[in-house]
Amino acid sequence: GGAMAAKRGALIVLEGVDKAGKTTQCNKLVQALQQSGRPAEMMRFPDRTTTIGQLISSYLEKRTELEDHAVHLLFSANRWELVPSMKRKLEQGITLVVDRYAFSGVAFTSVKPGFCLDWCMKPDVGLPKPDLVMFLQLSSAEAARRGHFGEERYETSDFQKAVQQKFEQLMKDESVNWQVIDASQDVESVHLDIVGHSHGAIRLAQDVPLGELWK
Ligand code: TMP
Repeated sequence: GGAMAAKRGALIVLEGVDKAGKTTQCNKLVQALQQSGRPAEMMRFPDRTTTIGQLISSYLEKRTELEDHAVHLLFSANRWELVPSMKRKLEQGITLVVDRYAFSGVAFTSVKPGFCLDWCMKPDVGLPKPDLVMFLQLSSAEAARRGHFGEERYETSDFQKAVQQKFEQLMKDESVNWQVIDASQDVESVHLDIVGHSHGAIRLAQDVPLGELWK
């Protein structure tokens, strides 16, 4: 690009099991970045507002049944359909703070019988690669203390424990910039950790092109 090209924004993802506080922390991070003069927007996956997202939402609410492979591919398609707008925003210098991404996709499907990590990763290969993935770590005991799980599909303690193990496998991949955050701290302390890591990622992202995930 020309010398006047704006610095790109960073792609920042928050992952973790249910009750870890991902959504709260995504909102707080976007607010903090905006207040310090950095353009930032929040996104979440699944994005239930699209046509594909509505199919997923109906499945999660147990209003419809979908074959396990088919729904996995729908979750992936839901990410791919947002890629053009994500790239546009990043190029405009907007930092994207994303509540769940391909890592949730792989972790949740791969605990189902007959699925391996490798098959689950394939459809998401080549997605925009996050500059930073923060994993909000919370023990299942602490998650249980935070109250009951909801009524949606996957919201049981056994399923969440199995998902946690899959996340741990994914975190061994050193091609991804993982940071583990202790989510058992109070909301403000977790927030300060997250802000610290995010400023570093935003600074680094300015000077390197956006990568391709798992490629
Ligand atoms: P949420 O909207 O409360 O974050 O819940 C979405 C649910 O969908 C959650 O149980 C995790 C699950 N999920 C998948 O199974 N695959 C995916 O690719 C994503 C993004 C989420």
